[in-house]
Amino acid sequence: MTRQVRSLSADKLQEGLQTKRLGKSILFCRKVNSTNEWAKHLAKLGASEGTITIAETQTSGRGRLGRKWLSPKGGLWFSVILRPRLKPSEAVKLVFVGSLAVVEALRDLYDLPVETRWPNDVMIRGRKICGILSEANLSNSSESDYVIVGIGLNANVNVKEVFLKELKTRVTSIRDELGRRIELEELFRCLVKKLETLYLSFLNGGSAMILNTWKRYATFLGKHVKVSSLSEELMGLASDVDEEGALVLKLDDGSTRRVTAGNVSLSFTLNRATKGRNV
Ligand code: BTN
Repeated sequence: MTRQVRSLSADKLQEGLQTKRLGKSILFCRKVNSTNEWAKHLAKLGASEGTITIAETQTSGRGRLGRKWLSPKGGLWFSVILRPRLKPSEAVKLVFVGSLAVVEALRDLYDLPVETRWPNDVMIRGRKICGILSEANLSNSSESDYVIVGIGLNANVNVKEVFLKELKTRVTSIRDELGRRIELEELFRCLVKKLETLYLSFLNGGSAMILNTWKRYATFLGKHVKVSSLSEELMGLASDVDEEGALVLKLDDGSTRRVTAGNVSLSFTLNRATKGRNV
């Protein structure tokens, strides 16, 4: 027998939220096309920093590289409007704030062995549990007007029921990891609090501290990876993520390449060290 996934309670999302800047205004909807699209629309109308859009399901959830993001009931799908006065090269690094907040929340609340994968994924034992879609709008060439940080977290999702064949083995959820459902509203409040703390330290202290902490969970570093974009495919050793947030790749021919997050995705490859293991 499959039990019904409990509906999100709009009141409980805000109740006890201990933040100063984020989540003062939380807009909740059972079903929306995409919380990022909704937030973008509100940002253009002048919504203030910290406004959050959240939905129980998304009909056209979006991932990076134009991918579709499956968003059934039970997941945590929300977007935050930020208005940092940052150069575009800094604003793009807010994706690391988003994924670090997720890592810290999942570790603190459920003690899950979460890892970061460049540029925007949160993983558990090689399976994706969360993706961040950060989209910046630049009012003029020198500063960001708003940045939408969208978080898609497979919380109470039954991966076997929801995902198609080959994705089943590459995706996980909190429910599947813990063997029980968690309280979505509690996770949301913890996540928003973490986001605020990390965002403020990003604004006050710069991105270096955030990136260094993010790298502590980056188990892909030191491994052989494949980086794919529309135009090329690179293979090499992931040796670092530099201060600009770019992946530093040592190619098999001995040269070094910096890859910026733009239109690329990263996966693991088999090399001598990893052959025969499921990476
Ligand atoms: C990725 O890994 O490709 C990023 C996925 C981001 C999905 C979230 S769900 C909430 C927000 N609304 C969207 O349409 N996308 C983001």
